This record gives sequence, structure tokens and C-alpha cells, in this order.
Amino acid sequence: MKSKLIQAAIDSKEKAYAPYSKFNVGAALLTTDNEIFTGANVENASYSLTMCAERIAVYKAVVAGKKKYKSVAIAGNTDEPLAPCGACRQVLAELCGSDLDVIMISRTGDTKKVKLNELLPYSFKSIHLKNNNE
Ligand code: THU
Repeated sequence: MKSKLIQAAIDSKEKAYAPYSKFNVGAALLTTDNEIFTGANVENASYSLTMCAERIAVYKAVVAGKKKYKSVAIAGNTDEPLAPCGACRQVLAELCGSDLDVIMISRTGDTKKVKLNELLPYSFKSIHLKNNNE
């Protein structure tokens, strides 16, 4: 049986606004107090303004005042479980931490679970900003 988190990510694909790519993505973020925040990709005719599903989910959680997370699930209509893009990996690393479980989901519901650290080792962090050029 699918977990509530995985089902929430799959269901969220239907909420995507993706008239240009026609590539729907759903995401669901689980907080340490077991609340789920969902997201879906939202595109724009000015393509670069597009926002990914994962970032919408985590930004919603941050603004709701939730700051600690266990895992994120990402669902796409792909043959292989869908991995988050590089930009989302960076945002998740900052806001969720490298220990976050990332559950990737395929079209058929196959899953693959990894730690964020496996997807983005050596991430750029705020501490690096201390070594500035002044
Ligand atoms: N997309 C996501 O929502 N998350 C990802 O991690 C990969 C890409 C969206 C952005 C765009 O709307 C569409 O997928 C095609 O790139």
C-alpha cells in the first residue's frame, strides 16, 4: 500500500499548470510533526519564471511556520522515478538539510528513496558566504 505522502505527491500532479512542457510534476513534503505540504509545477509564457513542484511545496511549508522536515516525495509521469532538478536540490539542501529523505516516483508508482546528500554532495551553504572577497 502507498504511503499518504507518496499518494499526496501523485495526486498533486493533477494540480500542475504546465501548458508549455505538458510535463506535470507533483511534490509532497512531510514535516517532523507529520503535516504534509503539497506542490505542483507552475509554468509561465516567459518560460524562466516557471516554478518547480518541490520548491512550491517547501516554500508553502516555510511560510506556514514549519521548519523541520523528514522527507519529500516527487512524482512525474516518467518511466524511471523522477529525480529533482539541480535548483530544487540546492533549495532543499538549505531549507531541509542534507539528511532529508527524497522519495522519487515514476508514472507507474515505482519508488526510489535516497538521502538528499546523495543527490547533492558538497552543496553551497550560507557558511561559505563568510569567505568573501573583502
Ligand atoms: N519540474 C519540476 O517541477 N520539478 C523538477 O524537479 C524538474 C522539473 C518542472 C518544471 C517544468 O514545469 C517542467 O517540469 C519541465 O521542465
